[in-house]
Amino acid sequence: MNTSPIIALDFDSAEKTFDFLHSFDGGLNVKVGMQLYYKEGPSIVARLKDQGYDVFLDLKLHDIPNTVKSSMEVLAGMGANLVNVHAAGGKTMMEAALEGLDKGTPMGKNRPSLIAVTQLTSTDEQQVRKEQLIEVSLQQSVLHYGQLSKEAGLDGVVCSVHEAAVLTDVCGKEFFKVTPGIRLADGGAHDQKRIATPEEARLAGSTHIVVGRAITGANDPLAAYNIINAQWKGAK
Ligand code: C5P
Repeated sequence: MNTSPIIALDFDSAEKTFDFLHSFDGGLNVKVGMQLYYKEGPSIVARLKDQGYDVFLDLKLHDIPNTVKSSMEVLAGMGANLVNVHAAGGKTMMEAALEGLDKGTPMGKNRPSLIAVTQLTSTDEQQVRKEQLIEVSLQQSVLHYGQLSKEAGLDGVVCSVHEAAVLTDVCGKEFFKVTPGIRLADGGAHDQKRIATPEEARLAGSTHIVVGRAITGANDPLAAYNIINAQWKGAK
């Protein structure tokens, strides 16, 4: 998957998804999340791949290692470029996910890259302390999950822009830092807590950005994508 912004296709049907994509050129990076996947099943991934899109299948697996392994084996056969788990599932679960992907990747194809969600971008410091009973800071928690993911052999993590720089220091520049919670300076946060602009993401060392509502909810989604892409790439 190249480094262009990944558009979160948070739609409730294939029809709405392809209507939306109509005004865009092919070859974009897109994200299929739970809503669209649960509605349409594997065919949505196959259709997007057939049309030349690179697909991040964002199903955030979190279960016992054996279940995650066998599920990843199935997902590997679907042709997604990037898939994910929750780091909170543990190192053994993440290693099992990789094993499943290796086993399920068809001969001659590349294994999908695997990243782990650290702390959701909708989570704030208070929730980490009061609900998860984690006594370190949110940033330390993200960093710990990043290191654990790297030890497990994963390709990177999902994190907010606010942790990207420290993750680069500890896990390296090449380790994927895929960051949702992206908003233009004048955009609303919605349910996200740890938000940042595309430019802040670039400067912090994010390797990829995921953008949903700032594009899908815009009056002119293509124009919004172009502005975000320009800011992300650092074009004047
Ligand atoms: O609309 P918005 O830009 O907030 O969409 C962000 C997308 O990224 C959503 O599809 C959400 O499920 C996903 N995501 C996230 N935070 C994570 C992992 C994925 O917001 N940690």
